[in-house]
Amino acid sequence: MDDLRTSDDSPSPSRSLSRRRFTAAAAAGTAGAAALTAVPSPATAAPAPQAPSTPRSTADWATCLAVARALLVVDEQDRPLVPGYLEILDSGLPRARTRTAKKVLVVGAGPAGLLAAWLLKRAGHRVTLVEANGNRVGGRIKTFRTGGHEQAPRAFADPLQYAEAGAMRLPGSHPLVMALTGKLKVERRRFHLVDVDAEGKPVNNAWLHVNGVRVRRSAYAASPRRVNRSFGVPRKYWDTPSSAILRAALDPVRDEFSTVGADGKRVDKPMPERVQGWARVVQRYGDWSMYRFLTEAAGLDERTIDLVGTLENLTSRLPLSFIHSFISASLISPDTEFWELVGGTATLPDALLREVSDVLRLDRRATRVEYWAPDGRGTDGTAHVRADGPHVWIDTVSEGRDGEVVREQFTGDAAIVTVPFSGLRQVQVRPLMSYKKRRAVAELHYDSATKVLLEFARRWWEFTEADWKRELDAVRAGLYDDYRAGRVPDDGSLLGAHPSVPRGHISPAQRVHYAAHRWATRDEPEAAHIVGGGSVSDNSNRFMINPSHPVEGSAGGVVLASYSWADDASRWDSLDDDARYPHALRGLQQVYGRRVEVFYTGAGRTQSWLRDPYAYGEASVLLPGQHTELLAAIRTPEGPLHFAGDHTSVKPSWIEGALESAVRAALEVHRA
Ligand code: FAD
Ligand code: ARG
Repeated sequence: MDDLRTSDDSPSPSRSLSRRRFTAAAAAGTAGAAALTAVPSPATAAPAPQAPSTPRSTADWATCLAVARALLVVDEQDRPLVPGYLEILDSGLPRARTRTAKKVLVVGAGPAGLLAAWLLKRAGHRVTLVEANGNRVGGRIKTFRTGGHEQAPRAFADPLQYAEAGAMRLPGSHPLVMALTGKLKVERRRFHLVDVDAEGKPVNNAWLHVNGVRVRRSAYAASPRRVNRSFGVPRKYWDTPSSAILRAALDPVRDEFSTVGADGKRVDKPMPERVQGWARVVQRYGDWSMYRFLTEAAGLDERTIDLVGTLENLTSRLPLSFIHSFISASLISPDTEFWELVGGTATLPDALLREVSDVLRLDRRATRVEYWAPDGRGTDGTAHVRADGPHVWIDTVSEGRDGEVVREQFTGDAAIVTVPFSGLRQVQVRPLMSYKKRRAVAELHYDSATKVLLEFARRWWEFTEADWKRELDAVRAGLYDDYRAGRVPDDGSLLGAHPSVPRGHISPAQRVHYAAHRWATRDEPEAAHIVGGGSVSDNSNRFMINPSHPVEGSAGGVVLASYSWADDASRWDSLDDDARYPHALRGLQQVYGRRVEVFYTGAGRTQSWLRDPYAYGEASVLLPGQHTELLAAIRTPEGPLHFAGDHTSVKPSWIEGALESAVRAALEVHRA
């Protein structure tokens, strides 16, 4: 594998293609590696302090500033926009004397569309919310549950159980999400990224299982040598945990926009210095991949990148934008306080739906958008000169699940399109939108993410060894010892064998498949004895996440047996849904031991977001360079067409980004 990288450190286009660098570093032309780490002093706030030899992206300073402002959600004078947005969430769009009510079409009823529709409706506009899905709203917020508004059949064997196909954790640092859940009185509680003990104190005792070595995360943090050496990292990294290696690599970037306080915690610099700092980061690394950053700026060797990538969930996205992975690695960290919604994340779209159900049209997929361009533009030869009457026409088609397929046209004075660009690519828009917008629709990179969820009749990950003995011996006397001695049959007969598992869910075919794919080992680790948190493995499951709380009235639980991104997700996407469950159970057993099988109810759920016909991908996880090349065009209105959705923010893959965009677009329409 090493031969894919040359030992020459000077970035030249000819060496820009490697397994982790599938986009050329377009701007890499001039400077050597030494200059790449030369981050200017944090105190330097002057614009564009670039010496000619300093490597930087192809983007000009104004573009970098614009990306930084979008990222920080500030206006052109660097004034934060979020306080105003919060006021709008609370009291509605600003009132104006002369404004007339408009007829507004909102396309897509994910969080962005739901919120935009609600705000505009509250402000007195006539809104129609058009949603492709015939079953439910919420988009990439999707809770597998029994009897939700999507009227799903029983989601799991225990009808009380539910689990997240998409969004599951809400950072406390996301102000609009926090405010909206508060305003709508959606109940939330802590999501434990790190496992806790019975008192709720973080213990970090979940497993790391890589290169055949299994250790608890806390033991790894205290003594990382065995795991680190299993990756072959150089001696200087033997005793440094992967998170600390990554932090040290990223800290010089953080120094651009934040400082370390006396208590050791990072504090953001005041505006406008913070904006300038981020703009410098964008200018320097805007068209870098994370892989390039780790090698060239941080100077890490390939083995150390393997270690950090495997444990910190960077590997599959190493060729993608540095900016994206940098932000997401900083956010998904034990330092972040996370929340979840009681009853599932779908309780948020449920609550929004109550506000807009009268204007919602489910089962209407936009297939064609025609708009009146104010400049009479008709670059495809169509003249659009309808100055009066509606300015937007949207053709839709139904899914025809219950029989007839119907077409319906909706008209309005303006539209907010929240469809991810990967889906908008299949929608005909006339006249042609601006060149830059069309490039953005065509090129914006969307990533995959896949989840495989397995239901268990008992929360075995919370067990002590004594619990295991009691429960296994309840299946049959001596079973506990038989598992420990590796003396159990591997024909699938023990699958769901515990008396707590409802009968009738596991088919004979499932047992055969399970037996064929079983994890064959005598290695039975000690009881995990953790609440919440999650384990990491280099097996195909990659990240395994336990529910943070029991579901009231149920002794069981649904484990996110595999949560994977990018290439890690593709390994699951190639499999049919049903084929994923035995594989996911095997991966879980590899980490937690074979005996977990006795609690498996045979009920699983899986969601591949790239294969989803409503989401068309997990999120717009950009390629190196796309922030500066495409961001401005993504959100610019095209005549009466406005654009919202998390892809129009610099928080793709976060509900906060969708909400930010909804308030911005609602304001645009309201003020137009
Ligand atoms: P979407 O939610 O995708 O909504 C778009 C809507 O448009 C959908 O309802 C769709 O059916 C509809 N639509 C599509 N095409 C058409 C058409 N042609 N006509 C009409 N309607 C159409 N965020 C967090 O904050 N925390 C998390 O923990 C988290 N985890 C995630 C995990 C995964 C696996 C995924 C996939 C996402 C996660 N997210 C998370 C991100 C969050 O779900 C999204 O940011 C959010 O749902 C985006 O909202 P949106 O309205 O922009 O788009
Ligand atoms: N919000 C999602 C989560 O909590 C994904 C975040 C990172 N997404 C990404 N594309 N890197 O898991």
